[in-house]
Amino acid sequence: MSKTENNLMEKIVSLCKRRGFVYPGSEIYGGLRGTWDYGPLGSELKFNIKQEWWKTVVKDREDVVGVSASIIMNPKVWEASGHTASFTDPLVECKICHQRFRADQEDVIKEHEKEHSKRKEKVAWTEAKKFNLLVEVKLGVVEGEKNTTYLRGEITPGVHVNFKNILNSSHLKIPFGVAQIGKAFRNEITPGNFTYRSIEFEQMELQYYVRPDKKESMKQYDYWKELRMDWYKNLGIKKSNLRFREHAKDELAHYAQAAWDIEYNTPFGWKECEGIHHRGDWDLSRHQKYSGEDMSYFDAETKEKFIPWVIETSGGVDRAMLFFLIDAYHEEDERVVLKLHPKLAPYKAAVFPLLANKPKLVEKARKIYQELKKDFEIAWDDRGNIGKRYFSQDEIGTPFCITVDFETLEDNAVTVRNRDTTKQERVKIDDLIRYFSDKLS
Ligand code: GAP
Repeated sequence: MSKTENNLMEKIVSLCKRRGFVYPGSEIYGGLRGTWDYGPLGSELKFNIKQEWWKTVVKDREDVVGVSASIIMNPKVWEASGHTASFTDPLVECKICHQRFRADQEDVIKEHEKEHSKRKEKVAWTEAKKFNLLVEVKLGVVEGEKNTTYLRGEITPGVHVNFKNILNSSHLKIPFGVAQIGKAFRNEITPGNFTYRSIEFEQMELQYYVRPDKKESMKQYDYWKELRMDWYKNLGIKKSNLRFREHAKDELAHYAQAAWDIEYNTPFGWKECEGIHHRGDWDLSRHQKYSGEDMSYFDAETKEKFIPWVIETSGGVDRAMLFFLIDAYHEEDERVVLKLHPKLAPYKAAVFPLLANKPKLVEKARKIYQELKKDFEIAWDDRGNIGKRYFSQDEIGTPFCITVDFETLEDNAVTVRNRDTTKQERVKIDDLIRYFSDKLS
């Protein structure tokens, strides 16, 4: 990573902490590597990302429903899904300092070798061995008799084990999808790059069930691949910072027949943001085998019975948020501005009285604030001067600032300032809701 790029990440991490987007996990106890807490603005941004995903993938469609499954599941689920045997990363240990690394992360390995070489030491590595990423939990009230299970390593099995329940309690016909958003946990060997690789993170996933037909399944695969890429672009990520990358055969996860990643051009290289996987019949046939339950689909029209194939789109909420932040970060004319898409911005507008010591201005501004707050996320600020308030809102990505000045008391209009252009216009108070509804839609 070059110095400037390194610098950019440092600036983003610092902004995130200072303005309440992301804090290091358990910080007052010295932290816990690979864990992060989302502050007031980070929670809003994350919520907005999830809401936009849910809207595109579930609400706006007729063929997708949602579920919210348990994080902790019967350990047999993880045997069936192949995770106890195959959910592994290659681990190597430095024979000098005994630090452990992922053997396939060449940049991290090289960096470590460089550190030792500065002390005239030449690193020798242990043979790579398979390290299982599942995080174990012990359940039960009797010491010594506790059952071992796992925090889910991916949110996927919660959907597939409910395949029959969902079919029996809905009117879905193939092809159809089941969406879920939730936490997953991985014992990552080398968490890092801020929230990019954490041990606890959120996923937003779609499992789309299709007929077991090569041509039909590939049609759906291509469709979802494009649709997911467009979602990032439509929410403002620069096209030049996004690309597809196909997984090589030896890179494929144990469940995947084909996989393409949507990658983002981060300051630390092109990195995976979301995976689109052709899972074939892996999930349902394995759960059928291990549970003994019939997991097939019966087509009442054609009288065919079959195990559907699955096209999966699996994105990380934390990664998406990090990439939206990196992409939105701009420094211009002495200001730092987060040019977040208005749909994602934690606050849609901020309301200021021009002077905090003029009760009439404050009263009018409070009224506007209370009124707009019913429909939008709105910030209030009456500290310092207007210039500072603008800069403060720019830095957290608030698209509009509304100032109540002395003229407002005469003409019932306010000054609305646009974050990106810094242009200002007068808008009638009565028109504000319509104005923002138009701008934010
Ligand atoms: N169900 C498929 C699945 O879990 P994956 O490629 O392992 O596929 C999907 O993960 C997405 O989850 C990734 O593209 C990434 O956005 C996110 N993700 C995976 N591991 C992560 C980690 N350690 N920290 C943050 N996000 C992670």
